[in-house]
Amino acid sequence: MYPLNVAVIGAQWGDEGKGKIIDLLTPAFAIVARYQGGHNAGHTVFVNGRKFVLHLIPSGILHPDVTCVIGNGVVVDPEALFKELDQLRAEGIEPEGRFFVSDRAHVILPYHRDVEVTSEAARGTRRIGTTSRGIGPSYEDKIGRRGVRVRDLGDRDPDGVLAQTIRANVEARNQAVGGAPVDWQSMHASLMAQWPRLEPLVTDVSIFLDEAGRNGRRVLYEGAQGTMLDIDHGTYPFVSASNGTIGGVCTGLGVGARSIGGVLGVIKAYTTRVGEGPLPTELKGDDGDALRESGQEYGASTGRPRRCGWYDAVVARYAVRVNGLQAFALTKLDVLDGLPEIQICTGYQCGDELVTEFPFDTERLATCVPVYETLPGWDATTAGVRRFDDLPVRAREYVARLEALTDTPVVIVSTGSDRADTIVREGSLVAEWLLAPSPSP
Ligand code: IMP
Repeated sequence: MYPLNVAVIGAQWGDEGKGKIIDLLTPAFAIVARYQGGHNAGHTVFVNGRKFVLHLIPSGILHPDVTCVIGNGVVVDPEALFKELDQLRAEGIEPEGRFFVSDRAHVILPYHRDVEVTSEAARGTRRIGTTSRGIGPSYEDKIGRRGVRVRDLGDRDPDGVLAQTIRANVEARNQAVGGAPVDWQSMHASLMAQWPRLEPLVTDVSIFLDEAGRNGRRVLYEGAQGTMLDIDHGTYPFVSASNGTIGGVCTGLGVGARSIGGVLGVIKAYTTRVGEGPLPTELKGDDGDALRESGQEYGASTGRPRRCGWYDAVVARYAVRVNGLQAFALTKLDVLDGLPEIQICTGYQCGDELVTEFPFDTERLATCVPVYETLPGWDATTAGVRRFDDLPVRAREYVARLEALTDTPVVIVSTGSDRADTIVREGSLVAEWLLAPSPSP
């Protein structure tokens, strides 16, 4: 019998506020495990007015009794990892002894960034708008079976597998990408130099989590990006290169499906997206600018302005289906305060057809028009409200309508950036998740 482990998954295009929700739930768990993506993610957490932005290390690290792990499904840039560890230490947070990286996670090599920049430029108007962190090319090497895994960096043999792989990959890169050629030997030497610092962190995460489960220690599975950026289920090709949806938990950590006891989707009260690709409810012009300013919608990793639009119930229902979401955490409700009217997209009009399932064909989607339902807004502020019954009646009606459209309960409502500005609805499923037996230290 597994302890009650819960997965937290983005239900839109990332930036749903997962960092805050994970931080809120973490005290009920012993371990937080990240299963995909890399330092393209940006999880922002405010604790007692202090702002923390984490890219690679799970935000659970801010809780001193919690152990954090990065699974084999994550791609790791050792320099970015060391930088983040140093920043945490500078803030008085000590990760030593409670932060581990899978031996099987793939490494982002320095040339992956140039490969990404070159391939984005070659796409022209079809560019994806990636974060330029080398994420995609690292996953390409993994699937191409020429990747370097974290444990490989410990190979000291000058003619060993690490040296041979780096040499072959760098030679291929030098042929494919213009500019100054990369010297494989100096890259090999600098990667080997990273091993002594990495070695104490490296472990078999699958075995670690299995043992934890046997000892009744609960695990929170932390997703990065979101359902619509998933390589299989997102708006391909405008997606990231990993599986942020539920299947990524099993493949990215080496755990069985039965180890997942609960699945929580995080969704904003409106929609945002960074980078290119379809965003059916996008608001252009003043309305979009107003939402961006009031929600402070700028990328936590890249600072890029996010595209903003109304809540899309087609997307939300899709996320419920592909992830098996049991409940939603609804974030940034306060950003909608003061709007005279609020729109909810319930379908897309594509020519003569009303489409209510997210379409396969993003080209066709671009020709569709969202179908909206209009709800009255609310004057009173929701910012900082901590009890559901204290929300303005129209805000409660808005939440109830989202629940009805997705057939899924909203169990958490976030009304501000601080940990405390949150409504956890009494008697809901999340109360069960939070109240499950405390983890042993
Ligand atoms: P990549 O992950 O850098 O390859 O970028 C692919 C797409 O995913 C781009 O549109 C990025 O803007 C987007 N993306 C990647 N990570 C995040 C994230 O954490 N939040 C939001 N968008 C992201």
